[in-house]
Amino acid sequence: MFCDPSHFQSVTFQKPKQMKRTRIKELLAMTPEGQQVIVQGWVRTFRNNQFIAINDGSCIHNVQAVVALDSIDESTLKRITTGSCLSVTGELIPSLGKGQTAEVKVNQLEILGDSDAEKFPLQPKKHSLEFLREIAHLRPRTNTISAVMRIRHAMAFAIHQFFNDRGFKYVHTPIITGSDAEGAGDMFRVTTLDINQPPRTEDGHINHKEDFFGKETNLTVSGQLEGETYAMALGEIYTFGPTFRAENSNTTRHLAEFWMIEPEMAFYDIEDNMQLATDMLQYLVKYALTNCADDLEFLNKRAQEEDAAKPQDQRNELSLLERLKFVVENDFQRLTYTEAIDILRNSTPNKKKKFQYLIDQWGADLQSEHERYLVEKHFKKPVILYNYPKEIKSFYMRQNEDGKTVAAMDVLFPGIGEIIGGSQREERYENLAKRVEELKLPEKDLWWYMELRKFGTAPHSGFGLGFERLMLFVTGMTNIRDVIPFPRFPKSAEF
Ligand code: 4AD
Ligand code: MG
Repeated sequence: MFCDPSHFQSVTFQKPKQMKRTRIKELLAMTPEGQQVIVQGWVRTFRNNQFIAINDGSCIHNVQAVVALDSIDESTLKRITTGSCLSVTGELIPSLGKGQTAEVKVNQLEILGDSDAEKFPLQPKKHSLEFLREIAHLRPRTNTISAVMRIRHAMAFAIHQFFNDRGFKYVHTPIITGSDAEGAGDMFRVTTLDINQPPRTEDGHINHKEDFFGKETNLTVSGQLEGETYAMALGEIYTFGPTFRAENSNTTRHLAEFWMIEPEMAFYDIEDNMQLATDMLQYLVKYALTNCADDLEFLNKRAQEEDAAKPQDQRNELSLLERLKFVVENDFQRLTYTEAIDILRNSTPNKKKKFQYLIDQWGADLQSEHERYLVEKHFKKPVILYNYPKEIKSFYMRQNEDGKTVAAMDVLFPGIGEIIGGSQREERYENLAKRVEELKLPEKDLWWYMELRKFGTAPHSGFGLGFERLMLFVTGMTNIRDVIPFPRFPKSAEF
C-alpha cells in the first residue's frame, strides 16, 4: 500500500492522471467488481481504525472506505477525524456490511483538510436544529440539512421546468424598487445617504433628491407589479427571486428575506389562476416524490421519530410521504371566503372560544389558526379560498360585482396555512384609480402601473408562491429557518 507520509503534508492535491473522482451517488449505483475509483469527501465517522464513512454531499448515503489494518501510519490515522476531508483511491468491491452493497478497499489515502476533533462542533450524534442554526456554515454537513438543500435545488429546477414546458417566460424583476407592491409598508430602505448626517430640505425632511436614485427606494416585497407589465406584452411570465419584508414576525413561517415565485398571465381569470396554482403545486410535489426519493425517505423517518416524541394529539395523522402523495392525488377544496366564515363561525373551537381570535362577523381577517382548522380539521385536504372582502386584501385585486369582495385567492396547506396568495387583477382603469385614491396610495409612484390600464388593458391574473413555505411542506420540516441556507429574521444576519 502506498502511504508516503510526506505526501500527506502536501497542500496542493494532484489527481492521479486519467482518473476522475466518482461521486458517491454514482458510485453506489455501480456494480462493484474491483474497479479503481477515487472518492473525495468529508469523514462522518471512523470506527476501529479501519472503517471510514465518507459523505460527499451528492446523496444522503455515505460510502464506507476500508483501510487494511497497519497499512497506514499512526500519525495519519489520528488525522482521520469526523469533519476532516479525504481523498481515497481504491477498489470498489461488494460489501459484507449491512445496509450497503459496495465499499472501497483503500489503496491510497490523502488528507485534504484536517479537522480538529476537539473543536469540530458536529459530532456523530443527533444535534438539535436550534444548535445547528448557530453553525449555519457547517450545518449542510448534516444529513438533515443536506437532504433539505438537495430538495431545495430540485424544487427550484422543477419550477423552471414547469413554466418552461408551458411556454412561460422567466422575467427578472428588480430587487431595488421605488414602489410598495403590497401597499403594506414593512420595507427595508435602500440609501447611500449618511444616516448620521442626511441632507435635509428647507422644512427639515430628509432630502431624497440627493440620494443615489434621487428618490426613496427600498428592497422589493414582490415582483408582481413589474411582472404584470411583462405579462401584458409576453402573455405568460413568471418571476423567481428574493423578496424582503421588514415585518417583525418571529414565527416559524416568516422570514425577512424569502424567495417567491410569481407567475402572471394575460387572459387568465380567477378560475384559470386557481387551476394553474393547483397544477403547479401537484407537479412540484410529484417531482419531489419521483426525483428526491432517498432524501424524502430519510426525512420521512426523521419526521416519524420527531412525531413519536410528541403527545398523541400533536402528531401528524399522515406521514410526510403520505401527505405528499395525498396532495398529488386529491383535488383541492375550493370555497369562498363567505362560505369559510360560516364554517368557522359554527366550528367547535370558535364556539368553545378555543381560537385566539374568535370569528364573529363577516369581514374578519383569517389567522393561521383558522386556515389550519379548515385544512386540517374540517376538509382534511388543501383548500383554495377565494372572493375575500376587499378591505383585507391589496388594492390591485379585481373588484367583484357585489361591491364588497375582490377576486383574491389563497391556497392553504396542511401544517403551513397560506402557501400561495394571488388574485385576478383589476384591469379597469376607473376602478383601480378609485381604489388607489380610497387607500391614499402614492399615485406618483404607480403611474406606470396605472398606464397599463390605459394602453391595451386586458383581464389578467397571477399569484405568489412562497418558496420556503413550499419547502416546509415538501420536507416536513417545521421551522422555515431550516429550509433556507442562511435565514434572515429579526436580530439575525450572521453568516
Ligand atoms: O400573499 P403575499 O403577500 O402576496 C404577494 O406578495 C403577491 N404580490 C403575490 C402575487 O400575487 N404575485 O405573498 C405571497 C406568498 C405567501 O402566500 C407566502 O407563501 C409567502 O409569499 N410569504 C412569505 N414567506 C416567508 N416569509 C414571509 N415573511 C412571507 N410573506 C409571504
Ligand atoms: Mg397573502
